[in-house]
Amino acid sequence: MARRPLTERSAQGWNQQPGRRMGGSQKRVYGKGSTASSRAVLSEQFLDENEVDQQNVQGGHGKAVSPLSSSLSSALSYTLSLEDGAKHVSPAPAGSVSEKGKEVQNLLVVDSTAATYISPLLAECDKPKGLYDFLTWAEKAAKTFKVTKVAEGSYGEVFKLEKKDMPSERSVPTPEHGQQAQGSSIFKLIPLRPKSSKSAKQTSLESLVREVQMLKLMDPVPGFARFKGLKVLRGSYPPSFGEAYYYHKARRPSDSQNPRPSTYRDKQLWALIEMDDAGEDLENLKSPSVYQIFDIFWLTCCALSYGEEEAAFEHRDLHIGNICIKPTTTRSSTTKTPANTLPDANLPPTTSFGRSSLNVTIIDYTLSRATTATSSSSSNEASSPNSSKSSSAPPVTTKPSIIYTPLPPNSSIFTQSTSRHPVPNPTLQRQNSTYRAMLRHAQSVEARSRAEDPSRENRKRDMWQRFMPRTNALWLAALLWTLLRRFEQGAERGGGSKSVGSGGNDDAGEEGRERLVLAGLRSLLDLLDGEEMLDSAGAVVLAAIERGLLQRRDWDGVRACLDGDADSGSCSATK
Ligand SMILES: Nc1ncnc2c1ncn2[C@@H]1O[C@H](COP(=O)(O)OP(=O)(O)O)[C@@H](O)[C@H]1O
Ligand SMILES: [Mg+2]
Repeated sequence: MARRPLTERSAQGWNQQPGRRMGGSQKRVYGKGSTASSRAVLSEQFLDENEVDQQNVQGGHGKAVSPLSSSLSSALSYTLSLEDGAKHVSPAPAGSVSEKGKEVQNLLVVDSTAATYISPLLAECDKPKGLYDFLTWAEKAAKTFKVTKVAEGSYGEVFKLEKKDMPSERSVPTPEHGQQAQGSSIFKLIPLRPKSSKSAKQTSLESLVREVQMLKLMDPVPGFARFKGLKVLRGSYPPSFGEAYYYHKARRPSDSQNPRPSTYRDKQLWALIEMDDAGEDLENLKSPSVYQIFDIFWLTCCALSYGEEEAAFEHRDLHIGNICIKPTTTRSSTTKTPANTLPDANLPPTTSFGRSSLNVTIIDYTLSRATTATSSSSSNEASSPNSSKSSSAPPVTTKPSIIYTPLPPNSSIFTQSTSRHPVPNPTLQRQNSTYRAMLRHAQSVEARSRAEDPSRENRKRDMWQRFMPRTNALWLAALLWTLLRRFEQGAERGGGSKSVGSGGNDDAGEEGRERLVLAGLRSLLDLLDGEEMLDSAGAVVLAAIERGLLQRRDWDGVRACLDGDADSGSCSATK
């Protein structure tokens, strides 16, 4: 089939078997063992850091053992009992707990009502699957980590925690801007809607569970966020996070619309999602260079095409706030052509990719759709090796399930308008029209499907369950439109193509080359916005190659960069 070439990956590259869906038992293993569970999880690291304190408490010189990874069955008996669905939980009996166990126990709170309510979310946590006391946890974390608010989400806040002895590294990426901070993580802090409330202003438990499941599912796919873990917390806003909130508010008042920290009371429940730092979102890239646009567009397209193949993934909300960029650390010689070896500018450029030294991460899957893995094993495998069952037992297959968010036609993303905005905002208009184009497409797919299969079961299906990867192509068109517009605005201001990462454009030859790449990008936008229905990110790649708008060599470079990110960390500075 035509999509096949997209899955051809080098032996050193991303070696997922083509056609296999990830997730569950089929998840790929990273070359360097960098799975979500083995990555440096900061939300627990400070317990190790404070080991000196523990040794003082114990008066011993014991070997360093992470309290959370040591055997804590007694200390955590009540949290574990939650996994068995127990409704009434009680702390471990006094006297049966080690000092280290006590340290963890001190972080956990017993609240059986809350625990029952949040049990679907606790099921997504690593052990201990308990409810943490926000104030105590944050107080301990603040001893080791500096807390900075980096962005405001639609429902929560996004913080960065970095080791206090690390230099701060959050700024607009430049080629010179090397390694990002090791020992830092991004934390999305989301207040949970109380059980008794139906307020649309707070996140429901179901949508949070979906977001975490989606993060886990997409974690191994190159170009998607690296998920590190989830904690559920209870309590009011801790001082360290509150200070970070107000510091950010003072500097960026327009990016501080969420309720103030004092709004939250001591019974407030929170989800804290830990991820690798994916850098800056594209909102911050005001005047992209031509080469930045080229790299960002094709890296995003490649990541989406991987997502389509591996998990039938559609993002459905891929505006520029949901794409992050960061500088790459090292580059293979095949992906970067030094400026002084450029070919004649009158010839078509042989290599355009890789000159911005940026890599891309797609984030925020709150509206996304994906299919989880199908895993099959024989029932014999599942039983004990000495089982007397015959090897001809039928295979046990877990049904794939679809993670998606229902989007009724009257939801605000489809109805919102920018007409009341005091200043026209074409970027927002394009974003809104992309949501509406997505809805129109979903409705036409639905109508076709019902005509073909009028069965009750098919009619009962929510249309957003379906895999309609044309939505990815629609968002790619919006991305390219937005980046080119910003380029033109930058050029009008006199800064556009000379911005960071342009790869240098001092001589006439280089300018000619840049003009060719720009013309190619404009033709690509015409293709994306044109009559031809490109029905997936994969189809965008194939159509662009066919029309000479993407060179094979560039596409290989794009894949090598993304695959390198997943396999060796060569494009990712935070691994
Ligand atoms: N892993 C990450 N690395 C860097 N920045 C991030 C990361 N996740 C989120 N952000 C920042 O936080 C903002 C809001 O996060 P997002 O997941 O998009 O939440 P929301 O669903 O509320 O839009 C993003 O636009 C981005 O600026
Ligand atoms: Mg977002």
